[in-house]
Amino acid sequence: MKGLLIDRLSKSYGDIEVLNNISMKVQPGEFVAILGPSGSGKSTLFHLVGGLIDPDQGKVILDGYDITGLRGNISYMPQQASLFPWRTVLQNMLIGQELAGKNNQDQARQMLKTAGLEGFEDKYPYELSGGMQQRVSFIRALLSPQSLLCLDEPFSALDELTRVDMQKWLINVWETHQKTILFVTHNIDEALFLADRIIVLSNRPGEVKLDFKVPFQRPRTEKLIVDKHFFECKKQLFEQLQNND
Ligand SMILES: Nc1ncnc2c1ncn2[C@@H]1O[C@H](COP(=O)(O)OP(=O)(O)OP(=O)(O)O)[C@@H](O)[C@H]1O
Ligand SMILES: [Mg+2]
Repeated sequence: MKGLLIDRLSKSYGDIEVLNNISMKVQPGEFVAILGPSGSGKSTLFHLVGGLIDPDQGKVILDGYDITGLRGNISYMPQQASLFPWRTVLQNMLIGQELAGKNNQDQARQMLKTAGLEGFEDKYPYELSGGMQQRVSFIRALLSPQSLLCLDEPFSALDELTRVDMQKWLINVWETHQKTILFVTHNIDEALFLADRIIVLSNRPGEVKLDFKVPFQRPRTEKLIVDKHFFECKKQLFEQLQNND
């Protein structure tokens, strides 16, 4: 099977049960948002998919291969920017490509410009604001060659306008490079605006509570936000998030 299969994953830290029996399928080229309360295990789920930690139970299958506990198969933007402090902005952006034996500086420089980071390519992470670091980390993930892109709240440190620009840009990259995207967010509007499907997790231990198909056509424009149907979807998702049964 092509795409990602998360198969009955469970994970505890000591007495704390973080994820319980999480399963989901993500088709190649699909854009799936994961929405869940703070502490429901969303980042832990990404650590498992990226092979940074091992599950207690369950498997992660990518394009038919068991990648449980294995690194290097996905492109991943962690919740904290975690740039390499000894590498410049440009060198940080290119690391994913470098590890894959590629080097496309032109594309990186173009992206840098679009992200409002022109002139900062030779600066070091400590010389950037939090939002700028987040954008570098985002570009680094976009430039990595893997087909599955996992983004953990990529726009949380950005102001509204920059956030909207980055969202449009992400959609563009997704459409042109045919990536598969898993996207963690707290923001219901953002999930409805971007995703094909939204998976709602329960409070800890995280379980899949709702698998919601987003009914809107693409391309989606800002007009959607004032659509009555958009509001109804938002209400339904909000109620699921609130309801802790
Ligand atoms: N390495 C760790 N050791 C011990 N406990 C951990 C570890 N990583 C996560 N946890 C615990 O697991 C739970 C889920 O954490 P996680 O970071 O996955 O949540 P989250 O859904 O990403 O939250 P947020 O929305 O705030 O980012 C928390 O209770 C956290 O304390
Ligand atoms: Mg998190």
